Amino acid sequence: MDDASLETRQVLSRIHERQISEGVAKRLPSFLDDVEVDITNAHCLDFGCGNTARDSIRMLDAGAKHVTLVDVEDGWMDTARTQLQQAGYHSSQFKLLDARTWTKATTENSLDFIVCNGVIHHLAEPDAAMSALSARLRPGGHLYLYLMGKGGVLRDFVMKILRDLYITDPGFKRLIDSDPDVVRSALIGGARSILVTRSNSLPEQYKGLVPLLEDAIDVDFVLTLKDRVATPIYEQYDLPMAIELLESHGFTLVDRVFPAPRFKNIRALLEDVYAFPDDPISIFLMGSGNLHLLAQRVA
Ligand SMILES: C[S@@+](CC[C@H](N)C(=O)[O-])C[C@H]1O[C@@H](n2cnc3c(N)ncnc32)[C@H](O)[C@@H]1O
Repeated sequence: MDDASLETRQVLSRIHERQISEGVAKRLPSFLDDVEVDITNAHCLDFGCGNTARDSIRMLDAGAKHVTLVDVEDGWMDTARTQLQQAGYHSSQFKLLDARTWTKATTENSLDFIVCNGVIHHLAEPDAAMSALSARLRPGGHLYLYLMGKGGVLRDFVMKILRDLYITDPGFKRLIDSDPDVVRSALIGGARSILVTRSNSLPEQYKGLVPLLEDAIDVDFVLTLKDRVATPIYEQYDLPMAIELLESHGFTLVDRVFPAPRFKNIRALLEDVYAFPDDPISIFLMGSGNLHLLAQRVA
């Protein structure tokens, strides 16, 4: 297992555990709400499933017969198992595997459906993972793949400027690596110093901004910021890059879908930017838009 995957796991494990305790692990709509694929009785794989096992639970909820969950090492397994059991599933309906050995423990051409949600863009060797996924999917089987999009001023601010700052500024790194509540207090404190602690009081029409702050910047927002900034690799893809990735590993693109996430924090302002990525303002802010893709393994 390469160092980047181990480090990614460490960062994301803390995020996933806090998402569970905050009750926001399932705040994004299920990919199964958007793609047209019947997984009744299907044998499925959740590659890079994370501690929450949320997509595995969704697949079992949709009638999958069995789900194999794969992630790095075994630190995630207790939490994932508990989540699955709390959702009502028996250990005979799922199997948890370490990413170091999962290919040996699975059979080629054996799977009907694979979800790979937010994983490939974190990998040092995405092609190796895509080949392994393709080999285990039966011809005609489907893959749901989510990749981080590319470009746009807002995305570039986070994915270029803030990620660079995390590497070059030890103070910023220390802050981002702190407990989410500490990060949140610092962000709110910084914003309050602009809005409240100032030499002239804020013009009347902007005074409503102050109470909005605490809702706008919640722990869920901080967890997203940590995800974007502190993971060692975060490749960004536009649609032609994603199609090339799929086709070079024996997949054909079937559909691109546009989940409309619901946020309680300031990201709520961006819901339509995610849902309608072809609008000029969406392209300006978020470039290619995120890539939520349904693909099929070519027969
Ligand atoms: C952003 S999280 C997504 C988790 C889950 N798919 C979801 O949507 O909630 C990315 C996951 O990929 C996992 N990961 C990183 N490197 C991996 C590798 N080489 N093989 C399998 N999973 C990996 C991380 O540990 C992490 O849990």
